[in-house]
Amino acid sequence: RPPVNVGTLVKMKAEGEKIAAITAYDASFATLVDDAGVDVVLVGDSLGMVIQGHDTTVPVTLADIVYHCRAVAKGLYRPFLIADMPFMTYASKEQALDNAVRLMQEGGAKMVKLEGGAGQVEIVEFLASHDIAVCAHLGLKPQSVHKVGGFRVQGRENEAAERMLRDAQALEGAGADIVLLECIPAPLGKHITEQLHVPVIGIGAGPDTDGQILVLYDVLDITSGRKPKFSKNFLAGHDSALEAVKAYTQAVKSKEYPGPEHCF
Ligand code: KIV
Ligand code: NA
Repeated sequence: RPPVNVGTLVKMKAEGEKIAAITAYDASFATLVDDAGVDVVLVGDSLGMVIQGHDTTVPVTLADIVYHCRAVAKGLYRPFLIADMPFMTYASKEQALDNAVRLMQEGGAKMVKLEGGAGQVEIVEFLASHDIAVCAHLGLKPQSVHKVGGFRVQGRENEAAERMLRDAQALEGAGADIVLLECIPAPLGKHITEQLHVPVIGIGAGPDTDGQILVLYDVLDITSGRKPKFSKNFLAGHDSALEAVKAYTQAVKSKEYPGPEHCF
């Protein structure tokens, strides 16, 4: 099957085929998740937690993402490769452009992802005007943890939910090609997905987004400590990492995952 591109993802949204996305941080796992049939791979700044052992994603640098992205790109053929822009690497338009270019040219990413709402509209517009594919990450934004005071479900109150929809529409209008929603009530995930033309990928955003993403180490039950409510151990009942990621992909495609127990 040919490599996935932005057009493929738009077509999947139109046809109601769920997009299966997962994180990866090295070449071996990149090849494994490709073989398992995932459509999208993210080199997430979650690597600060699962690879580097930090409590948050805040310490991750652009060089860290470039290093891991280059390794992932080597192992990948079909999935669409997205790289996270780390904390404070897109504080101005010019800085965002320079760093997005590095993620693409040095890391091999095809799209960059940044956390943002109304405050990032101009940055997304600037990147889009330079033909850079962008994913806008809304809802729970882990890079804001110290400002917000913890990781918790976002968009529970009407006002916050309405703001999130407006922000998502503004980011789409600015040229975002994908919107990612993290940790929001399932009905809000459904509503935003219906209102947007671009594909929406969710994590803890309910079953009705156009696709799902999970951290690879949660899928394989490697992550220690408290697990997020939305995550699921797909290694249970399977005898290899490949079979586990295949099971995840199939569960997303068949809409068996996420179940009600994974939703807010
Ligand atoms: O960093 C990451 O892995 C992410 C996903 C969980 C969406 O941003
Ligand atoms: Na991230």
